Parts: sequence; C-alpha cells; structure tokens
Amino acid sequence: MNQQAEPFLKDAQNLDDLINDFTQVHVSRPHESAHLHVSGRATYTDDIPVVAGTLHAALGLSTKAHARIVSMSFDAVRATPGVIAVLTAEDIPGANDVGPIIHGDDPILADGIVQYVGQPFFIVVATSHDTARLGARRAEIVYEELPAIMTAQQARAADSRVLPPMKLARGDAGTKIARAAHRDAGEMLLGGQEQFYLEGQISYAVPKDDDGMHIWCSTQHPTEMQHLVAHALGIASHNVLVECRRMGGGFGGKESQSGLFACCAALAAWKLLCPVKLRPDRDDDMMVTGKRHDFHYTYEVGYADDGTIEGVGVDMTSRCGFSADLSGPVMTRAVCHFDNAYWLPDVSIAGFCGKTNTQSNTAFRGFGGPQGAFAIEYIMDDVARSLGLDPLDVRRRNLYGKTEQNQTPYGQVIDDNVIHELLDEIEATSDYRARRAAVREFNANNEILKKGLAITPVKFGIAFNVTHFNQAGALVHIYTDGSVLVNHGGTEMGQGLNTKVAQVVAHELGIPFARVRVTATDTSKVANTSATAASTGSDLNGKAAQDAARQLRERLAALAAERYGEGKVSAADVRFGNGAVSVGGTIVPFDELVAKAYLARVQLWSDGFYATPKLYWDQAKLQGRPFHYYSYGAAVSEVVIDTLTGEMRVLRADALHDVGASLNPALDVGQVEGGFIQGMGWLTTEELWWNAGGKLMTHAPSTYKIPTVNDTPPDFRVRLFKNRNAEDSIHRSKAVGEPPLLLPFSVFFAVRDAVASVADYAVNPPLNAPATAAEILRAVGAVREAVRARAA
Ligand code: MTE
Ligand code: MOS
Repeated sequence: MNQQAEPFLKDAQNLDDLINDFTQVHVSRPHESAHLHVSGRATYTDDIPVVAGTLHAALGLSTKAHARIVSMSFDAVRATPGVIAVLTAEDIPGANDVGPIIHGDDPILADGIVQYVGQPFFIVVATSHDTARLGARRAEIVYEELPAIMTAQQARAADSRVLPPMKLARGDAGTKIARAAHRDAGEMLLGGQEQFYLEGQISYAVPKDDDGMHIWCSTQHPTEMQHLVAHALGIASHNVLVECRRMGGGFGGKESQSGLFACCAALAAWKLLCPVKLRPDRDDDMMVTGKRHDFHYTYEVGYADDGTIEGVGVDMTSRCGFSADLSGPVMTRAVCHFDNAYWLPDVSIAGFCGKTNTQSNTAFRGFGGPQGAFAIEYIMDDVARSLGLDPLDVRRRNLYGKTEQNQTPYGQVIDDNVIHELLDEIEATSDYRARRAAVREFNANNEILKKGLAITPVKFGIAFNVTHFNQAGALVHIYTDGSVLVNHGGTEMGQGLNTKVAQVVAHELGIPFARVRVTATDTSKVANTSATAASTGSDLNGKAAQDAARQLRERLAALAAERYGEGKVSAADVRFGNGAVSVGGTIVPFDELVAKAYLARVQLWSDGFYATPKLYWDQAKLQGRPFHYYSYGAAVSEVVIDTLTGEMRVLRADALHDVGASLNPALDVGQVEGGFIQGMGWLTTEELWWNAGGKLMTHAPSTYKIPTVNDTPPDFRVRLFKNRNAEDSIHRSKAVGEPPLLLPFSVFFAVRDAVASVADYAVNPPLNAPATAAEILRAVGAVREAVRARAA
C-alpha cells in the first residue's frame, strides 16, 4: 500500500459537506498494485524468498497419446548428480485424484496408462530446477501404444465421452424449421485457446509442524487446492494452508488445473520432509494443462422473409480431453448461452462432451458461454446473407423483447434487458450505416484488398450455474491506529478485485482508500471459499466485505453516539466520511474514534458473509434461474483482408459495454479492452495444432500467436454503457471479467463479411475460427469455387 495516507482535512470550510459527499466507489483509481506491477516489485509465487534446503521438482511427461506403460527405469535419472528422488503414483499416500467434480478420472500422476502426450506420470526432485528437468528426460519408459482419439468429431463418431449428452429444447424446432419459408443448414469449427497467463503454473510447498503443509500456489481456487492436497496426503483440511497473494493472470487456467502442481509439490515435500518448488517451464505448462474447449457444430435454421427465426437446432460437440475436469459446467454454460441476445421460440440445443486423448480442457474466460453464443451469431450471419439483408437488421428483429418474448430456453425471465438501447447507441456512435456503405464502395473498387464490417451484441448471465458456489466470506480488521486490513475469499489475478473490495470497505467506513490494505487469499482466514471465477469475484466478495465493514461501522456508530452525542444523536444518524465521523455536527477523526473504541473494549474486527439470492437450477432438466442478472454489450469492428495472402488487420473497433453502475470505471474499461483483445486473439491468430502422434506442436509463443500491442486496432473506442444493475448487487455494479470476451465476435464476422465480398456476398463463406491467414485464404478460395460451381 506504499501510498501516503490522504491527510484528514482539518482546514476544510465545511467538514460536514466533505463527509456527506465522500465516496470511494464509482470512481476511477489505479489497481492497488499498479505501482508494484510496473516497477517489478510485486511478489509472485516464484519471487517469495525460499526457505533453506528448498528442492525443485520437474514432471516426467508421457510421449504417447494413449499407451500402457510396460516398464519404467529411473536408474539414469537417479544417477544424475543432484537428483534426490523420483516419485510415482505408488508414492501417493492418499487419493491419486485431482478431478474437481468427477473423482477417479483425473489422476495426479498417471498410473499404468497414459492418456495424452504431456500427461505427468512421475516427479523428479533435485537440488536445482535445471537438474530436475535434466533428470526427468533420462527416464527409460517402454510403452505399448493403444488407439487414440484426437478430435471432437472423432470422439462423437466413436461415442467417446466424459459425460452423458445434454439436451435442452423448447417447442418443436423440427416442425417449425420444416414449415419455414427459408431454411439453412451448415457446420463449422471453433478453435480452442491457451490461457497464456504470463506467470505460469507454480506451487511451493513447505512442510510444517505436526503434519502441516503450507503451499503458496498461483491459483484461482485456494480452497480446492487445500482439499486436493489433503486428500492426496490422506490428512485433514485443517493441516493444509494454501496462500496466494496474486497471480500473473489466470483466465480460468488456474481454477482446477493448478491442482496437479499443488499436489505434486506437496507430495514431494511430504515424502522428503523438505520444502519443494514446482515451476514448470512454459512448454511443459502448455503440454500438461487444458485449454478452452474447441467446438464442432452442426445447425439447421428455419426463418421468415424478414429474417425472423422460426425454429433453430444446434448440435455442439466439445473436445474435452482425457478427463471430465470442468467440461460438464462448460457445456452447460454453452447450452445456456446459445440464445445470446435472441428470442428463439422453438429451439433445440444438444451438447456432447467428447473424450479425447488430449490435455483435459478446462475453464477459460467465458466458460463455454462464448462457444454457445458464437453458434447463434454464425447462424444470424448466414440468415442475413442468405436474404441479402443487413445483419444488424436481422439481429435486431430477433432480439429478446423487454416485457414479452423474454424467457430463455432454460426458463429464466429476462427483466433487465438493455440491449435495444445499447445497440441504438453504438449504431449511432460508430456511424455503422454510413461505414457499411463505405465498405461496399471500397470493395467495389478494390480487387485484392477487401474490407468487412460487423456488429454483434452480447448478453451474458452472471452467477455460477451451480447454486451453492454463489457464496463468499470476508474478514475486516481495524487496528488501533485506524488502519484497516481486509481478507476475503477471492483471488487477485490482475483483474482488480482487491482494488474494488478495498474501495467498498473504504466507502463503508468513510475512510480514504489508502487506509485499507487487502492481504493474500489464505485458506486459514476465510474457509470454504469458491473459485474466483464466473466473473463473480467482486459481486460476491464485495458484498461479503461490505457486510463485515457495515457491522464495524455500526459498532463504532453506537460508541460515537454515546460518547459525543450528548443523548441527542442516535447511532443511525452518525455519518462516516472523509476519514472522520460526524455526530450531530461534532467531527471526530476516524482514528480517534477507533482508539476510543479499543479502550471501551469494542470488537474492532468482524467477519462478513454473502449468498446470492433468488438462484435455483435443476441440472437434470436444464431449467431454473441460474443467473442473478445479465450483462450486455455490443461491438462494431471493421477489418481489411488481403485476398492474396490471407493477412488481416482490424482497422477500427468500437465497444459499448454494460457494467451497471461501475465500481471503478478505469478498471472496468481495462477489463473490456483486455477481454476484447483476448477474444480477438482466440478468433483470429491463436491456433492450437497437434501432430499426427498427438503432440501439441504449438506449445510456446514461437508457434502459438497471442495478440501483441501491434494487433490492437489503431482506432479502438471502448465506452461503458450508462446503467444501474436492476438487482441489488454491490453498489448496483455488474460483473465485467468475462462478458467482454464476446465483443470481438464482431471481428470474426467482419472478416467473414470481407471474405463474402469476393463473390459479391452471394454465398455464406465456410469460414472457421480462428480466422488465421491460412483459414481466410482457404475460405476465399472456397467462396470463389462455390460461385464457379453455381455458374457451371
Ligand atoms: N483479468 C486479468 N487481468 N487477469 C485474469 O486472469 N481472468 C478473467 C477475468 N479478467 C482475468 C481477468 C476471468 S476468466 C474471470 S472469471 C474474472 O476475471 C475473474 O475475476 P472477477 O470475478 O473478479 O472479475
Ligand atoms: Mo473464469 S473462466 O470463470 O476463471
């Protein structure tokens, strides 16, 4: 917190006004660690000074996609100077399991059978990181290869799956499609995505007194790490302490997948009674861990002359990898986001979770929501082009209504819809119609370069689909000098959660932000926390911290009324603000009141708790009210493609996003910009590619292309939509972490628009995502071929 505490304004003319006008929320302020991030002083797990005697671990990885292990020889490993031990599944005293939901399909260390190239099945512990890695390469393993399934479509054909198929239907889509004036059908692919957190996976385990284990872990889910380690070691949860001050990014990749690293570090530390650090290199991290699920879709749609959708059916197959991990909830969210912003009266949505011999795919910003919504946007784009209508008009025609046609296929009534106003605003501010005409004109006059334009809306449901995860706790301490320490169950991964929670507490106690410090997430402080995920971090932990701070304020107010109110001021009339308290006109500095409270033996710390109201969900029927509210947004993107090389540039992007009444507009704009660029990378340049043997070949930034600053649209206009949450969320704000990732759908459909122009928009380009240069070139060729075939 190394900022100077803002001084208490003694010379202000009207202290009472300063107290009344005081606010710490709805104001922009820098990330609480920004000064540390930019100066290299922010402590990440690898920066924690190690304890003397610390050893380093490396994982031994499978080189086969599916095989039985016939024999393992570690003689050469053990002979490597500096190698201390080799551990295998046999060394695990408790459960060999890191499955977050389904137990038994996801081992810490593979035992007998390996199921993907990169699966860990032994640990080498050595005196240095390099020695451990060197040792791990010297194992002699004899495999007996088994047949492997690589893609979602192969899994579907073989009925290979990690879960039973899902199906959500309303009305009779089949009949409606058959009777509609127009019909389209098709299929497409949507690629996966590596989380590419800048700080990789890491765990540092230090054995403690009497079977204790302290683990510093870069994780979005300390409580789950605690449970997994306790089960693996066969000890109770109270022996395990998991701590995380901050992550250098998580993006969903450290929700369940940090478990393997926490368990391996803890296992080695337990066995050797030494501190052990496990920090895989980037290549190993990418080879071992799961990514965003890639999807294959088939669809059928029936629609009227004006583009109104009458019936639509989609069949989605995801590549889950070798185990279930979070694939079930990811598919559930995909199913619940196929509607995106549209009223689909008769609809049929099927989801198949394909089991493959690849990394076990997992959470990634949006958690299946983007994959679900992508499909309906693709269909809208088809319908518009098939009818020769502007895609914006077709999209508008199908939007959810405000008071009718407002029930989702899963039964939730949408009562906070602002997508109509939001689209009106961005259509105007982006100058959409005029630019549409300009793009047409440009394309008519240019042979090689072609421009494209698209506008896409977003509606995203906020809450965990699993109702009981929607709870949080917090602890707030006030020390006798008036400084405040906050601990809550959420984790900081760069998104600014700690900043927002500190703002909420400062606001509640009427003190300047600099008086509040948020500490590391720690399973020994707040118990049984949920993952910081589903964008709910500030909704849940903000409310819990507010609850704790409110209790403290009430205790202080009671004391202040008694000491300074001369019997005329009730506790409820004591006001807090600007680092002071007003008791019927008497102004008392906050720290003075706190010091008095201590002497009066008033409890100066409190816990707080929050459980999101009104939620229920029936997973078997896929019906209920899974979301607390919806976030909305829209974006307009303009691109240019080179039809000879497939190269693409985004020329301009406008985004308008709804975060309710923003707690911190600066942080929220940052999240919208970051989400946009990350989603753009997913849909345009980031391509995961496995070779025939099942090895991920794009396992480093040399071959896996995340966006760089050069890919940022040169004209990038991000704004927050003026709104207030209709639900009683923390200060009427809305979650912002994930929904903006869907805004760059507009980039993908602008590319598709540009590709379509090569044949005068006569055919729907068979463009898959990511729209890499190679894919754009392929689609351009396919469009030209389709037109030739039609003419012949
Ligand atoms: N922003 C940064 N800088 N780093 C991250 O890892 N993760 C995203 C989003 N924004 C992420 C991020 C994901 S996947 C989620 S679910 C939310 O932040 C989680 O934080 P929140 O719930 O506090 O918004
Ligand atoms: Mo975010 S994918 O819910 O961690």
